[in-house]
Amino acid sequence: MKLIEVKDNEEMSVEVCKLVKMKINTLATPVLGLATGSTPERLYELLVDEVQKESLSFKNVTTFNLDEYVGISGNDRNSYRYYMNSKFFDHIDIQIENTHVPNGLAKNISKECENYESRIEELKGIDLQILGIGRNGHIGFNEPGTPFSTQTHVVELEESTRKANSRFFQSLEEVPTRAITMGIDTIMKSKEIVLLVSGEKKAEALNALINGEVSEKFPASILQKHPHVTIFADEAVLKSPV
Ligand code: F6R
Repeated sequence: MKLIEVKDNEEMSVEVCKLVKMKINTLATPVLGLATGSTPERLYELLVDEVQKESLSFKNVTTFNLDEYVGISGNDRNSYRYYMNSKFFDHIDIQIENTHVPNGLAKNISKECENYESRIEELKGIDLQILGIGRNGHIGFNEPGTPFSTQTHVVELEESTRKANSRFFQSLEEVPTRAITMGIDTIMKSKEIVLLVSGEKKAEALNALINGEVSEKFPASILQKHPHVTIFADEAVLKSPV
C-alpha cells in the first residue's frame, strides 16, 4: 500500500481527480467503482468541473457503486442512487444506463446481488475503485466479521454505522437496517484501489489499516494484500493521536 499525505480534503480531492482523469484518458472503456459518503463529495464536484470545462468526458465510462440501502427507492433523497445522480451523474456526460447502483427495491434481492456481480465480471472488472473507510474498518457496507470471500451480498448494518449515517436522515429510526454491498472479494478484484481517509475521526481506523493484522474483524485490513492500493490521508487524520 502506498500512503500519500495531503493537507486536507481539498488537496486530496484535487489529487484523486487527476488520477481519475488519467485513468479515464488512458483506457478505451474505463470501469470505475464509486463510493458515496462525505469524503468523496468534493472529488465529484471537481470531476463535474472538469467535464463542464470540456477537459474530461465520461462518454465511454461505466460505473459501479459500492452499495445501496435496502427498502428505499432511487428517488428517495437518502438513497445512494439519489446521491450519485444529484451530486454527479446529472452533471456529467455519462450515459445513465452505464451507471450502476444496486437496486434496493429489487423483489429478489439475492438475484439482484448475483446480477450485479455478473455485470462487473462481464465488463472484465473494475479498473479503479474509489473507497472510503468507516471508523469500524468497514469498506462498502462490509461490517467487521464479513468473510473476505464475499461477493455482492445483503448485510445487516451495525448500529454504529446506522448512527454515523443518521446525519443524513430525519431520525435514527429512518435509517434502513439492511443494505446491498459489493463484497470484500468483489472489491479486492479491482485492478487498482484508491482509499480516501479524511478527518480526525478516522485516525484509529487508519492506524489499524496500516499497522494492524489482516483480520476479518477489521475488513479494510485486507487491502494490505492488494497489489495496487494508494491511500490518501489528510493532516487531520495523520496528526490525531490514536
Ligand atoms: C459509501 C461506503 C462507505 C463509506 C464510509 C465512509 O458508499 O461504501 O463505506 O465510504 O462509511 O463514509 P464517509 O466518507 O461519510 O466518512
